[in-house]
Amino acid sequence: MYEWLRPACHFLPEKNWMNDPNGLCYLNGEYHLFYQHNPEADVWGDIHWGHAVSRDLIHWERLPIAFGPSRELGEKHCYSGSIAIQDGIARAFYTSVGEGARGPENGAEQWMAYSTDDLRTFTKDANHPVLSMSVHPNLRLTYWRDPFVFQGEDGLWYAVLSGTLDGVRGCMLLYASDDLRSWRFLQVLYQTGEYPLLECPNLIPIGDRYVMLYSPVAQIHYHVGTWTLQGGFVTERSGILDGGSGRHGFYAPATYMNLPGKRRVMMGWMSDKGRENQPDIRGWAGAQSLPREMTLEGSRLRVDFASECRILRQKEILDFRESLHAEGFQIGFALSLKMAADAAFTLTLLSTPKGDQRTLLRYDAAEGELRLEREASTGFDRVDVSVLCQPVALLLNGALELEIYVDGSIIEMCVNHEEMLTGRVYPSRPDACHHFLWLGGGAELLEAKAWQLERILD
Ligand code: FRU
Repeated sequence: MYEWLRPACHFLPEKNWMNDPNGLCYLNGEYHLFYQHNPEADVWGDIHWGHAVSRDLIHWERLPIAFGPSRELGEKHCYSGSIAIQDGIARAFYTSVGEGARGPENGAEQWMAYSTDDLRTFTKDANHPVLSMSVHPNLRLTYWRDPFVFQGEDGLWYAVLSGTLDGVRGCMLLYASDDLRSWRFLQVLYQTGEYPLLECPNLIPIGDRYVMLYSPVAQIHYHVGTWTLQGGFVTERSGILDGGSGRHGFYAPATYMNLPGKRRVMMGWMSDKGRENQPDIRGWAGAQSLPREMTLEGSRLRVDFASECRILRQKEILDFRESLHAEGFQIGFALSLKMAADAAFTLTLLSTPKGDQRTLLRYDAAEGELRLEREASTGFDRVDVSVLCQPVALLLNGALELEIYVDGSIIEMCVNHEEMLTGRVYPSRPDACHHFLWLGGGAELLEAKAWQLERILD
């Protein structure tokens, strides 16, 4: 039912539930993607680490589940985490959660499973937990979770974990290890009274700075700054990573930390929370985003689609200069516009022929904001249709460049190779596959291209 909504160019398991990407790593020419997975149902629960592998970050092969909860040891879920590779041994650090006293609030522990066969099979380390709360006896910490492990330039291994301090303050904590076995607590890296929990922290060295990411059960925040052991993290610039992020779009991203050329590529969970109350769409929930690459220009963070995304483009289906119409549920666009200071345009996406169901992507130069208007995007009555916004500045010459990937119920876009906006929409009609561009006064179309996108999985 409603099979046109199921993404075909984004990774998702054959069936059932998926959430966060985990353990992103590169080994012997293969990109690995692990993910939070319920193998038995299309709702969250019984969380295992699913596994897929790719040679180009776009085409994925589904592999057997990497590991799941060891019930005989009191584990109920294997929460999110990351993988560190040293001397050919891959170690997956994750948060182990059980019931009662081992519940997520007070009983979470950090465990490790290792692989010596190119990540094909994993064994739980006998010496669990690898990290327990006793490492910081003086902190009042709850909801401790989501280890992010990376090797620093100094050769030391670092781990960042999140949690709640004193019952209310979201925090990120920093640890170090010489051998990935014994860990010491270094410092509270960041804390805020704004959110109680900062899920899936990332601390990513880029050049002489760091990008810190956290997912606070709301839009994802980034901080660009410097970090030293003595001075801690000093923020130079901060903002929202993706205007559509949060539980209704892109969430809990993870980053490949060992790519050739130190490329910083991330993927995030395309959550289907926005359709959770709509019982008609069953069998699958959650996809992974297309790969996105982060770069810094001074303290300015640019996030763009990884260039590999263009592999998805197949038959070119238009290059109109006056009006644009394209058709299909898997479509990529590249648009380049020149905008006067008061110009506007609207791109109608996933529309029925007469437009009674449609999603509007609007940009009004005077407001400097890109808006994804979803009010008329569906015929279902219990789907989230709130408007998603991303502030966007025109380039100096008034140019606006948009790269868009539409894939069933996913709309992912990048503006000016810098800002991302993600949205989920659930058109309930199979003919909601038309796309139109309308230009207001003062907007000039320099280039418009559209491609059918390759279906990478069934
Ligand atoms: C984020 C999250 C993580 C946790 C995992 C459990 O979506 O809540 O904090 O480890 O999902 O599946």
